[in-house]
Amino acid sequence: MKILAIETSCDETSAAIIENSQVLSNVVSSQYFHSKYGGVVPELASRAHLHSIVTIVKNALNLAHSDINEISAIAVTTQPGLIGSLIVGANFAKGLGLRYNIPVVPINHIEGHIYSGMIENEEINFPYISLVVSGGHTALFYVESFLKYQLIGTTIDDAAGEAFDKTAKLLGLGYPGGPLIDKFAKDGDPNYVNFPRAMINSGDYNFSFSGLKTAVKNYINKNFPDGVNEKILTHICASIQEAIVDVLVIKAIKAAIAYSSKYLVVAGGVSANSLLRRKFAQESALRGIKFIAPSLSYCIDNAAMIGFLAEKKIINATLDDFKRLDFTTKAYTLKNH
Ligand code: KG4
Ligand code: ZN
Repeated sequence: MKILAIETSCDETSAAIIENSQVLSNVVSSQYFHSKYGGVVPELASRAHLHSIVTIVKNALNLAHSDINEISAIAVTTQPGLIGSLIVGANFAKGLGLRYNIPVVPINHIEGHIYSGMIENEEINFPYISLVVSGGHTALFYVESFLKYQLIGTTIDDAAGEAFDKTAKLLGLGYPGGPLIDKFAKDGDPNYVNFPRAMINSGDYNFSFSGLKTAVKNYINKNFPDGVNEKILTHICASIQEAIVDVLVIKAIKAAIAYSSKYLVVAGGVSANSLLRRKFAQESALRGIKFIAPSLSYCIDNAAMIGFLAEKKIINATLDDFKRLDFTTKAYTLKNH
């Protein structure tokens, strides 16, 4: 059974073909033009999806040497995300489904991230702890099966990616800020400034990152009102990165121990961070926990993870369940399943 998956929830237009849990193609087009506005402009994002979606879907089919007539189901992200962006993908999927009489499976984007580590790591066993860290989400899940998981902690304000992006902006770096802070931090001293690690000892699995932005702003205004030189910049970047990663690692490891999870799986754009990968690998190994981070192409927003999960859901349902095509899109949802 071949599945065509479509993902347009934010600023990546992506299409993939999945068959028997294998990714035959995964085409991702990132809308880099948002960088000049310092963040994703929702209206422009949806227009760009509309512009490129036909080409991206055709490319995914071609790369997988597949024809639309061979597709048994279409999977599409319907929540959460930017409404205008979600609507482009959802409507395109409905149109294709109607034209070719193919069932369409609505998929939750965060659920896609939760299971994305399994695409390349068949050995992962349920239950496991999943940390989804992106520009819009920071959430810890206890994952029991493809149909069942619990949200055990989330951010009470900014997401970790948002903290990277907002502090990078304060430092005059571009957007997205995460990769730039990662790059500059390589030459810096992570102990140069002791930025706050909010809620690190809160006793629950929640996070808070909005105070970090204020702390960085106050630190720069007080110590470097005329701007920072390149050397100091590397130190501040390293210190910011250390503060964010410390909290993520400590809380996720704590959850893995409390839930007796053998696996700790991260996903989302922030899981591309080099320090995060290094620290998670070290700290997990010390405690006999297997740390899994997907390849970068499955960390960022991608349609492969949407198709991968859809296939698992289809196994537990009949394809006719997905022929109604009356689903809608939702901007935000995070709950237990
Ligand atoms: O999952 P994603 O591609 O999009 C969504 O937000 O859904 O994540 C984007 C976020 C941005 O905040 C970006 O700054 C962050 O991931 N990011 C990173 C790195 N690469 C991307 N943060 C830290 N270090 C990185 N290397
Ligand atoms: Zn995402």
